[in-house]
Amino acid sequence: MESRVREKSRVTKDDIKQGLRELGLRLGALVVVHSSLSAFGYVEGGADAVIDALLETVGEKGTVIMPSHTDLDGRDFESYDPNTTPVRKNIGLIPETFWRRPDVIRAKSPPRHPWAAKGPLARGLITWNENHPLEAGGYADMLTVVADLDGYVLLLGCRNGNNSSIHSAEAAAYNEVEGATMGRAEFLRSSPKRPEDFDQLDEPLLEAGVMRISRIGDAEIRLMRSRGLFSVVKRVYETKYRDADFTPFGEVPGPASLAAKYDSVIKELKALKHASRTVT
Ligand SMILES: CC(C)(COP(=O)(O)OP(=O)(O)OC[C@H]1O[C@@H](n2cnc3c(N)ncnc32)[C@H](O)[C@@H]1OP(=O)(O)O)[C@@H](O)C(=O)NCCC(=O)NCCS
Repeated sequence: MESRVREKSRVTKDDIKQGLRELGLRLGALVVVHSSLSAFGYVEGGADAVIDALLETVGEKGTVIMPSHTDLDGRDFESYDPNTTPVRKNIGLIPETFWRRPDVIRAKSPPRHPWAAKGPLARGLITWNENHPLEAGGYADMLTVVADLDGYVLLLGCRNGNNSSIHSAEAAAYNEVEGATMGRAEFLRSSPKRPEDFDQLDEPLLEAGVMRISRIGDAEIRLMRSRGLFSVVKRVYETKYRDADFTPFGEVPGPASLAAKYDSVIKELKALKHASRTVT
């Protein structure tokens, strides 16, 4: 009798590289990655093969960033050790394997939401993450820097419900439209109660030509320009949520001085990005 259970796909590092290139990820790209290993089916070489595929696709002049968030409480500075504290289970095995590589830089703080990165922009981005975490409001945080540097967000086998950049895009949209300097402005929701709301961005992102979706093995892969994501979230806020009943929270301390620091880090990282592109 014919089995009704579909066989899992088997994928190799080269299949992943080819899939990423076909989707538009190029040498020298700056990319924030969220992932699920099992979504691919069976990956020969496991999490390391996915990481190698990513690093080889963007090359030495590219920068890869992953969440390395922990189970700790956000204030638990004593217990966090960036060299030993594992990522929490719902961040995944690929980031857990990534931050443990010797040439990956992991943030020394905040304990709950440290990011990890490798590449020419890693040091600058992770330093900004340490000093201006999402907990400080999502205002001008590291993921906003990524958008300003024309970076990408790549979702490997997971959906926009896991796309942290949307929090930052919400804060940016609210502040730009309202001329405010607030912290988080969650007019969309990624909370467990409404996990579908970030996913609803698929349609406007595809319509705007900002995101492409393809498949590698069994996994759905989404690649989007972060800058385009920010524009789409701003438009969604203006057209759908401006009059909605929600309360943005947290005034950002010293926005003027933060803005000045922000401008200088963007300038510095843009120069670094340019230099890493042009030096052979
Ligand atoms: C929660 C989440 C990580 C779960 O994905 P997952 O694929 O089940 O789990 P992981 O990526 O940790 O991979 C481990 C799984 O891969 C499986 N696995 C192990 N080796 C494998 C291989 N070579 N090939 C394929 N799968 C393999 C493991 O068996 C395990 O599955 P199990 O738990 O059913 O046993 C994922 O759905 C998700 O949400 N990712 C995004 C997280 C994120 O970035 N969130 C936002 C941050 S702010």
